[in-house]
Amino acid sequence: MARRRQLYEGKAKILFEGPEPGTLVQYFKDDATAFNAKKKGTITGKGVLNNRISEYLMTRLTEIGVPTHFIRRLNMREQLIREVEIIPLEVVVRNVAAGSLATRLGIPEGQRLPRSIIEYYYKNDQLGDPMVAEEHITCFGWAATQDLDDIVALTLRVNDFLTGLFLGVGITLVDFKLEFGRLWENEEMRIVLADEISPDNCRLWDAKTGEKMDKDRFRRDLGKVEEGYQEVARRLGILPEAGPRDMSGPESMQ
Ligand code: TMP
Ligand code: ASP
Repeated sequence: MARRRQLYEGKAKILFEGPEPGTLVQYFKDDATAFNAKKKGTITGKGVLNNRISEYLMTRLTEIGVPTHFIRRLNMREQLIREVEIIPLEVVVRNVAAGSLATRLGIPEGQRLPRSIIEYYYKNDQLGDPMVAEEHITCFGWAATQDLDDIVALTLRVNDFLTGLFLGVGITLVDFKLEFGRLWENEEMRIVLADEISPDNCRLWDAKTGEKMDKDRFRRDLGKVEEGYQEVARRLGILPEAGPRDMSGPESMQ
């Protein structure tokens, strides 16, 4: 099969031209970065697991009517997605204080928030993804007020649904990051969920013990990083058929 044209390489994924106009192939790497790529490493099998976990979560979300860019998984490391115009925002939802919120405001990590908080960060690596307010977003035209209304409504539905889904498998959804894109269909524009949902961009804690099962194990050098990602997949019932040993295998299989 002819190698597809590469359009973009990010820190954890590569985008290739898709088989049909308006589609892309999203390839999941094992590369891991933290602190705006100041820390770099590899998490063996992460790409395979994130591809599978994101497929699973996006599919469940589609079933409840949340529009996403996801079409279908192609193989161990690749999925077919709709090409969207990415809105340059990282939309973070927090249910429990952790990470930068805990640090910035001096709130103990693990304290449940009285209500969920949505924060926006401007997606710009050179600036280190600074936190922004709705005022900045509309002032600089990154998204219109109507777009933000749609984004907030979708984000709250995703949070409600995923909180319940993870709780069902003994995991607390502490916080997570979403990205959205504009999808154009016959002159009509819709905002859809894009990027990925995986332990790379969620904080997932064991509901009983509080043990971390996400990228914080890499960010904070907690060890057993691969095991954390595998445990999330295992609880969701979606470990690749051949089990963890299958994960460092061929990079791309049809
Ligand atoms: P934070 O506490 O570091 O601000 O992170 C909040 C959530 O967003 C957490 O689940 C991890 C995720 N996240 C990303 O997906 N990408 C990023 O670049 C950062 C900083 C956080
Ligand atoms: N993905 C981000 C980076 O390397 C940070 C993170 O997830 O913590 O820059």
